[in-house]
Amino acid sequence: MQLTLTRPDDWHLHLRDGAALTTTVPDTARTFNRAIVMPNLRPPVATVDAAIEYRQRILAALPNGMTFDPLMTLYLTPDSSPTIIREAASSEHVYGVKLYPQGATTNSDAGIASLDGMLPTLEAMAETGFPLLVHGEVTDHSIDIFDREAVFLDRTLDPLMQRLPDLRVILEHITTKESVDFVKANPDMGATITVHHLMYERNDMLASGIRPHLYCLPILKRRLHRDALIEAATSGTSQFFLGTDSAPHAISDKESDCGCAGCYTAPIALELYAEVFEAQGKLDRLETFASFNGADFYGLPRNTETVTLTKTEASIPIMRPFGDTEVRLLRGGETVAWSLS
Ligand code: DOR
Ligand code: ZN
Repeated sequence: MQLTLTRPDDWHLHLRDGAALTTTVPDTARTFNRAIVMPNLRPPVATVDAAIEYRQRILAALPNGMTFDPLMTLYLTPDSSPTIIREAASSEHVYGVKLYPQGATTNSDAGIASLDGMLPTLEAMAETGFPLLVHGEVTDHSIDIFDREAVFLDRTLDPLMQRLPDLRVILEHITTKESVDFVKANPDMGATITVHHLMYERNDMLASGIRPHLYCLPILKRRLHRDALIEAATSGTSQFFLGTDSAPHAISDKESDCGCAGCYTAPIALELYAEVFEAQGKLDRLETFASFNGADFYGLPRNTETVTLTKTEASIPIMRPFGDTEVRLLRGGETVAWSLS
């Protein structure tokens, strides 16, 4: 059995920097034509110049013969001015601004503690139609980690979108039924869905031993949320699109007393999404989710090349090189039902 689809794009990706790029860039370019590249480096990618320099480092790591177009983003900091937004909006290489609530996730300490002072910047985004990519979790320690996404919708995102109805918002890596419902209730917004949030629920991470390689943020939720995500991803609804949030960390940073959040999925992401869609009897919707909806949302042309998936079991390597260390793949050492030729 074979499935040929328009070459997909990844609308949410962490490539990291330096020597790691020699693994992460080809691992993504093998499958995806374009990717929205997250800016949470240290220091954060907060200016157009920094984004263009980072883009050049990414392209320098692309092996000869591979094609890949990195779509850059800026990190929203308290210093992000309306001028920076206007500059980004007119740049051919920058496609959005990422909001990290301060302290929410990996390298988010330069993020936003309160949106109160950011209104002029956000107004400039609404005026220019420049997308705001949102990590949607509150960081209030009194809020249970499993509730942080749902509380963010009520406390932060809904008021922001009421205040600036023209703001183009993408809610990234959604993990809850509440987010699915929120996105559907706001038909001009988009949302990315990772493959790990489609494959796993919190029991998989915690019920028979603690699995650090399933620890990501927003954290895996209970089954009913996963079911809502699967329904949304496979529905064909144009607001939901593929974003792996592939987020490699050195193995020692994952298997640690205080382990980092993130799953490395890029090398096998499309194959795993295919498994999820097949299990729902919805393989015919994979192309819409993986190759059409994101491009349409960002106002970019759909890709013209194709990729072919074959129903042949393939083993997933356990490790990939990662700078001077290694990164463990999601489901490494196991098999996946589909292969990319
Ligand atoms: O699991 C995650 N890892 N979630 C994020 O929001 C950030 C990412 C990372 O950069 O490691
Ligand atoms: Zn991410």
